[in-house]
Amino acid sequence: MRFPFLFATRGCRAVYRLHQKQFLSPVPPLWEHRSSAALSTQLCKADRSYYITTPIFYVNASPHLGHLYSAVLADCLHRYKLLQGFNSTFATGTDEHGLKIQQAAEAAGKDPLTFCTGVSKQFRHLFSSCNISYTDYIRTTEQRHREAVEHFWSVLWNKGLIYKGSYEGWYSTQDESFLMASQVGDALDSLGKEIKVSLESGHKVEWMKEENYMFRLSAFQSQLLDWLRGNPQAVQPERFHQAVLKWLQEDLPDLSVSRQRSRLQWGIPVPGDDEQTIYVWLDALVNYLTVAGYPDKHNQWWHVARHVIGKDILKFHAIYWPAFLLGAGLPLPQVIHVHSHWTVGGKKMSKSLGNVVDPLERSQMFTADGMRYFLLRQGVPDSDCDYTDDKVAKLLNAELADSLGGLLNRCTAPALNPAQVYPSFCPQSFPRAHGGRAVHEDYHMLDAIQKLPAVVEKHYEAMHIYKALEAISACVRLTNGFVQRHTPWKLDRKNNEDQRWVDTIIHISLECLRIYGTLLQPIVPETSNKLLSRLGVQPHERSWAGLNFLARYQGMDCPFEGRALGSDSGVLFSRLEPHNADKQKPKKTKKSANLK
Ligand code: MSP
Repeated sequence: MRFPFLFATRGCRAVYRLHQKQFLSPVPPLWEHRSSAALSTQLCKADRSYYITTPIFYVNASPHLGHLYSAVLADCLHRYKLLQGFNSTFATGTDEHGLKIQQAAEAAGKDPLTFCTGVSKQFRHLFSSCNISYTDYIRTTEQRHREAVEHFWSVLWNKGLIYKGSYEGWYSTQDESFLMASQVGDALDSLGKEIKVSLESGHKVEWMKEENYMFRLSAFQSQLLDWLRGNPQAVQPERFHQAVLKWLQEDLPDLSVSRQRSRLQWGIPVPGDDEQTIYVWLDALVNYLTVAGYPDKHNQWWHVARHVIGKDILKFHAIYWPAFLLGAGLPLPQVIHVHSHWTVGGKKMSKSLGNVVDPLERSQMFTADGMRYFLLRQGVPDSDCDYTDDKVAKLLNAELADSLGGLLNRCTAPALNPAQVYPSFCPQSFPRAHGGRAVHEDYHMLDAIQKLPAVVEKHYEAMHIYKALEAISACVRLTNGFVQRHTPWKLDRKNNEDQRWVDTIIHISLECLRIYGTLLQPIVPETSNKLLSRLGVQPHERSWAGLNFLARYQGMDCPFEGRALGSDSGVLFSRLEPHNADKQKPKKTKKSANLK
């Protein structure tokens, strides 16, 4: 047993080094590029594959807001990569095995598969209602997944990385997690009885003693440390990277990877031992490989995998999963993007507190785009955010309805744009050197919008979506300021010079709107489509490569100049009345929105 194990580990190290080299190849800072389209083209040439995943969701209960958040983040990255011309695969799905699900099905009086199918459909329905454009929806009860898990197990077994042993210690069924004594504390249950709980999640833990299979996790401690130290971007944001490094400096005991079948029937049996069921986390993590085509067709996608996860499942993804992969001789994920949680009233959402926010209901109330925009604009990966309906309504009214919608309305309204066209830009009115009718602030605005795609690209890449939206929102304000400053509605259209200046103001504003609409597609696909269609921008002109802001100012031809606008299909985003919006709390009298 010992020799093959050592051999296997050395083999893995070789694969791992190869992967790191690829990972570490220098990428020039995005903001050095004049045009981000040029950068995208370079990246595409290098490798056009991109593979992004959400965690697969437990089906013990209906979806809540936090689940939608994980999905919206991953969807945004997937859509963004497609815009850049990448070939992107986006996987989501449901995690259907394990004790927690077995117990939930029992409580519902249903057989486990029927129960799982019902809740899995709810997730699917939520995702299609919110335009989550996954390319694969995996259920761990599918045959293709069972085959992938069995194969993966056999690889680890054949390499001597799994051995029969016995586990004695604490287990949390809610978290499906083993805990050390230092991770457990005392608490009282709802009846006042003393219980033990996980210090991290607060969930009840139980002592268990079982014969089962163990994975040699301890053997991977130094390789995991090397991986993280050599790849500072592997776990993002930085604070989570540091947290994993800290855990790895502590004791890393071997991990129990099976449960006795007498206790857990709802799962995949250990190959060759019907008395044991594979540990649900090992089973679940392999879903990422199943979707990639493991065991024989995963090469195109596996080396470019990126996982979006919530902070509560960091240990499973940044320690167990890379260790399993190293053991199986497979490349490690390129990036683990971690996000924090949504709280309600400052507290974790829970059925017992009655503060669970139903994302389907909210997306009907605020529209799918509204919820997507809110979650991505307000959600900060580094720290938890508190949800209220009031905040949603205020944010959407301020930024989508008034600021962006108002700008579109102004520039396309027949009063200001009677010909309903993308009018001409006049270089004499807005020359590159000062001297026309443009003022200092206008040049500043052009500069900010010229740089915006690269700024947004940098933030999308780092999954700092809120920063990208902050930057876009600031530019929308600049454009509104530009229109307001020059009051084109007061100019005399009969005067040729004034007319050219009005046209130039509108041309520039429409160009700004085209940039915002294009950049916002990953966030608010329906609203962006409406906006770009109104501007007459064709579907093939909406990619990252087509961004090229204000070509006429740069002395080039503008394909939109003189083009008829698209038809008017009404307001871009309807204002929400706070009294409709806030179901949970009494209406506040505070006037200003508490926006980040
Ligand atoms: N089934 C596991 C994941 C297995 S992946 C191989 C699981 N499922 S979960 O349904 O409990 O959680 C799925 C995702 O929702 C996780 O990323 C989790 O962090 C996220 N959220 C759950 N509650 C959340 C909030 N309150 N806020 C934000 N996201 C949270 O874990």
